Amino acid sequence: MSRLRMAVIGVGHLGKEHARILAGLPAVELVGVADVNQDQAQSVARRVGTHAYSDHRQLMPHIDAAVIAVPTSQHYFVAHDFLSQGKPILVEKPLALNLAQADELVDLAQSRRIILQVGHIERFNPAFMDLANRSLQPKLILSERFGPFTGRSTDIGVVLDLMIHDLDVMLALVSSPVQTVQSVGLSLFGGMEDIAHARLVFANGCMGTATASRASPVGQRRMQIWGPEGFALLDFAARQLTLIQPSPEIRQAGLDPSDLDPASRAMLKDQLFGRHLQVLDIGPCGGDALTAELKHFVHCVTTGGKPQVSGEEGRNAIALATRILESMQIHSWQEQTTDPAHPYPWPTPFGQLFSPVEAKSAA
Ligand SMILES: NC(=O)c1ccc[n+]([C@@H]2O[C@H](COP(=O)([O-])OP(=O)(O)OC[C@H]3O[C@@H](n4cnc5c(N)ncnc54)[C@H](O)[C@@H]3O)[C@@H](O)[C@H]2O)c1
Repeated sequence: MSRLRMAVIGVGHLGKEHARILAGLPAVELVGVADVNQDQAQSVARRVGTHAYSDHRQLMPHIDAAVIAVPTSQHYFVAHDFLSQGKPILVEKPLALNLAQADELVDLAQSRRIILQVGHIERFNPAFMDLANRSLQPKLILSERFGPFTGRSTDIGVVLDLMIHDLDVMLALVSSPVQTVQSVGLSLFGGMEDIAHARLVFANGCMGTATASRASPVGQRRMQIWGPEGFALLDFAARQLTLIQPSPEIRQAGLDPSDLDPASRAMLKDQLFGRHLQVLDIGPCGGDALTAELKHFVHCVTTGGKPQVSGEEGRNAIALATRILESMQIHSWQEQTTDPAHPYPWPTPFGQLFSPVEAKSAA
């Protein structure tokens, strides 16, 4: 069987990893990489043993499918070129800079029946895949995604940059429309939000909160999911899943400490986790999410299958992100509807700094 002829467009921080993995897949012939930064294109091409281009349009006639990993502000233009030529694409997340662009790309792909996959990589995180295979009816989802300042993705704020991962995962887990959205944001480095918090209420009663920061001293990517089945803690970074569920006895008879004598109550404290609430630690789960995502794209292109993260799903994540950004614009920091537009810029013109912590003298 002939190999799928592929290219990677934009070989910066993430695109060079796509190129490295594709170059090693037996089902793929990496025909070339393209980057407007010629030195970068050449250096990556040399490393993975392919050809370098400075303009993706030169590559288009020679390939069957492409991965697009240019900055988000360029996604629409590059993706539009490929879809217009009937070429299947995997576009990095977020699908586009705004909803209008995302809608146009999805419509173009649908009308021409071309595969459009979006790079929401957490869907290929083995810990998430394990969770998604279990029956879940989430009623509360709490997500936290914190990373250091990288100096990249400054064309978008943290909602489209990082929070979008969790929005996509929540939309995949909760099959119900989002009814209400509230959010707040803080801008440290410029006009866009670098720290954001959103509260969502789904039509089926599930609630979700998402907090994201790209200026954090500690890195963390975690999600808690509460439902009638029990509690799940998903650590995306460690690829670990912890599941806690009530024992069969509790499910049958419940557990009311006020019914217990003092000795049994003391024992309950020690036996709560394990005997009454069963804890299952899974992981760290093996497997590289980026490789799984690329293999899935290659599989969809060669078989005509539907991508696990379709253009519509990428578009839906942007629609929710847009509502969060709109809510952020009208959030009142000072209880006044006449507050300036948000995300609120830092440093704030009001309030005291934390007072310095006095060193405690030895007693
Ligand atoms: N899935 C994830 O977890 C994840 C992680 C990081 C980045 N991303 C996404 O990947 C994309 C790229 O991010 P990055 O961190 O690699 O950025 P980057 O700045 O490191 O790399 C982007 C590269 O694209 C090149 N480029 C710019 N315009 C181009 C064009 N029109 N044609 C060809 N090349 C062009 C730049 O020269 C640069 O080398 C962004 O959309 C980002 O949101 C996704």
